[in-house]
Amino acid sequence: MTETLAEAPTTHPQMLAWVAETAALTTPDRVVWIDGSAGQHQQLIDELVAAGTFVKLAKKPNSYWCASDPTDVARVEDRTFICSVDEADAGPTNNWMDPGEMRAIMKDLYRGCMKGRTMYVIPFVMGHLDAEKPMFGVEITDSPYVVVSMNVMAKTGTRVLEKMGETADYVPAMHSIGAPLEPGQADVAWPCNDTKYIVQFPEAREIQSFGSGYGGNALLGKKCYSLRIASVMARDEGWLAEHMLILKLTSPTGTVKYIAAAFPSACGKTNLAMLEPTIPGWKVETLGDDIAWMRFGKDGRLWATNPENGLFGVAPGTGWDTNPNAMRAIDAGGSVFTNVALTDDGDVWWEGMTPEAPAHLTDWHGNDWTPSSGTLSSHPNSRFCTPIRNCPILAPEYDDPQGVPISAILFGGRRKTTIPLVTESRDWTHGTFMGATLSSETTAAATGAVGVVRRDPMAMLPFIGYNAGDYFQHWIDVGKGADADKLPKIFYVNWFRRDADGGFLWPGFGENSRVLKWVVDRLEGNAAAVETPIGHVPAPGSLDLEGLSLSEAELAQAVHVDAEEWKAEIPLIQEWFDKIGEKTPTSLLTELDGLKARLGL
Ligand code: GDP
Ligand code: PGA
Ligand code: MN
Repeated sequence: MTETLAEAPTTHPQMLAWVAETAALTTPDRVVWIDGSAGQHQQLIDELVAAGTFVKLAKKPNSYWCASDPTDVARVEDRTFICSVDEADAGPTNNWMDPGEMRAIMKDLYRGCMKGRTMYVIPFVMGHLDAEKPMFGVEITDSPYVVVSMNVMAKTGTRVLEKMGETADYVPAMHSIGAPLEPGQADVAWPCNDTKYIVQFPEAREIQSFGSGYGGNALLGKKCYSLRIASVMARDEGWLAEHMLILKLTSPTGTVKYIAAAFPSACGKTNLAMLEPTIPGWKVETLGDDIAWMRFGKDGRLWATNPENGLFGVAPGTGWDTNPNAMRAIDAGGSVFTNVALTDDGDVWWEGMTPEAPAHLTDWHGNDWTPSSGTLSSHPNSRFCTPIRNCPILAPEYDDPQGVPISAILFGGRRKTTIPLVTESRDWTHGTFMGATLSSETTAAATGAVGVVRRDPMAMLPFIGYNAGDYFQHWIDVGKGADADKLPKIFYVNWFRRDADGGFLWPGFGENSRVLKWVVDRLEGNAAAVETPIGHVPAPGSLDLEGLSLSEAELAQAVHVDAEEWKAEIPLIQEWFDKIGEKTPTSLLTELDGLKARLGL
C-alpha cells in the first residue's frame, strides 16, 4: 500500500496525507488512483461484470444493467446531516449533530471498513476545469460502481490533479459502502450497510458518507458537494448554488433566452431540460438537468453554469413520446442503468418507456416478470446514468466556463390542486416568496412516504447546507444587490394539477413549450396576463393552444386561482414560516400579509 502511495500521481502534500491517513484507518487491500482514462474506466467495468454487479447490454453500446440491494434505492434524508459548528446554522430543516461527535462516530464506522476491498481515489472537478476558481474535490470510495458513475457525472483523473498542483483547495469527500470482506468471504452484487450516514461539514467544506451506494448518497460531487457544500460557499461569496435545470430557448424569430427551473427530485427537471417543443419554430437546447451555479457577471446579469458532466435521470416515465431526447441520449452508449428491468434480448425496459410492456422481463429484483405479475418491473426511482454529451440537443454553450445569462427562473412542484399551471411573480421578492413557500408531493427519489404535500423551498429542502431562514435572506439579498431590470423574472409552474376525475389538467412534457413561450412573451411584453391575489396568470387567449386538443375552458381550469383553495393554503404557509422561526426574512412575512389581505383574510 505504501508503494501505491509512493506512486501517487500527485505531490499535493495535504492530499497525500489525507489519502494515507484514510488508508491507515480503513485498511483496504490496495489503493488505486483514478486517472480518468478510458482504459481504466473499462477495466473497472469489466471487474463489475465479472463480479456480477453489472450485466452488459447486448442492445446498447458499452452500457450496463445493475440492480442495487432492495434497501438501497434512494436518498436517505433522515440519515443526512449538516454538522455545522453551531446548531443554529443547520437550521430547523436539517438534521444536526455536533461535528466533533459526528467525526467520532464516522471514524468508528470507517475503521477497517475497506478490509478486503480496493480504495479508489477520485480527483474530480465540478464545473469547468478552466473556471476562474475551479471547484475541486477528491472522493475516496471502496465502490467501483461509484467510480464508474463519478467518471460519467464529473470530470475526473490526472488532468484534474495536474490543474490542482500542490496547493489547490479541494473538498475531501469520503465514501464507504461499509461492507468489509473477511478473508475467503464471498462478496454480494451490491454490498452496503444498514447503517447509513450522509454528512456535510459546512465550515470545513468536507463530506463523509457511509453505508449506501445510491447516487445521491454516494456520488459525492452531486448533491452533497454541488448543492449542500456549494450552497454554503455561495452564501459566503454572494452567488447561488441551486437545484435547477438550465435550458436554451430559441423562438421562431431567432430570439434566444436562457431559462433555469427548480423542481423537486422526480418532478420534471430532466424532462423540461430536454423538451421537444410541440409548437412550430421553437427550439430547446439543454445545458443542464439538475444543478445550476449562478453568479453575477460584469454586466450585472445572473450567469448560470451546470457543474455536472452527466445525466442521472429517473427512468420510469421516460419514453419516446414523453422524452425522446433522453431516449436518444441513453441509446448513444456509455450508460449505467440501475434498478430497471432487463429484457430477454439484452436491453432495458421500465414502466412508461413504451405503452405496452414486453411479454417477459427480468425485474429489478432479478425475478421473472410478465405484464400479469401485478408488480412494477422497475423501482420507481430507478435511474439512468449517461454522459451529458450524449444529449442530442446539448447547447454548445454548455462548455463555456462563463455560463449563460438567465432571463427567467421557474419554480415548480407536483400539486394536484391549488397551484395554477403558471403564475408570474410581481418582482424578485415576490418570486423569492413563491420559491420559499414552494410545495410538492413527495416522490420515490427519497425514502419515506410518497405523495405527501410538504414545503420544498426552491426545491432545495434536502439540499440547503445551512439555515433555511438565512438561505431565504440570501435570496432577498441577491435581489437587493442587483439591478432589478437585469434580474431574471420569476415564475411558478405546476404540470401536475388534476381535474375532479384525477386526470391531469395539462398534457405536460412537449406541450410545456407553450408555457415557455408564454414566459418569453411576458419577458418581451407580448402576452396579456390577469392579476390575481397570487400573481399574474395567463389572460384568456394569451397562451398558445394552436394544434392542441385542449379548449380555452379546460385551460381556464388549469390556470384558475381558487380563493378557497388558497385560503386553505395560508395556514400551511404560516406554519412553515413558524417552523423557520425568527430567521424568516421580514420581507417574506410582508409578502404573506399582502397575500392574506388580497384573499380577504
Ligand atoms: P427530475 O428528477 O426533476 O429530473 O424529474 P424527471 O424529469 O426525471 O421526471 C420525473 C417524473 O415526472 C417522470 O416520471 C416523468 O415522466 C414525470 N414528468 C416529467 N414532466 C412531466 C410533465 O410535464 N407532466 C407529467 N404529468 N409528468 C411529468
Ligand atoms: P433528482 O436527484 O431526483 O433530483 O434527479 C437525484 C438523487 O436523488 O440522487
Ligand atoms: Mn433529473
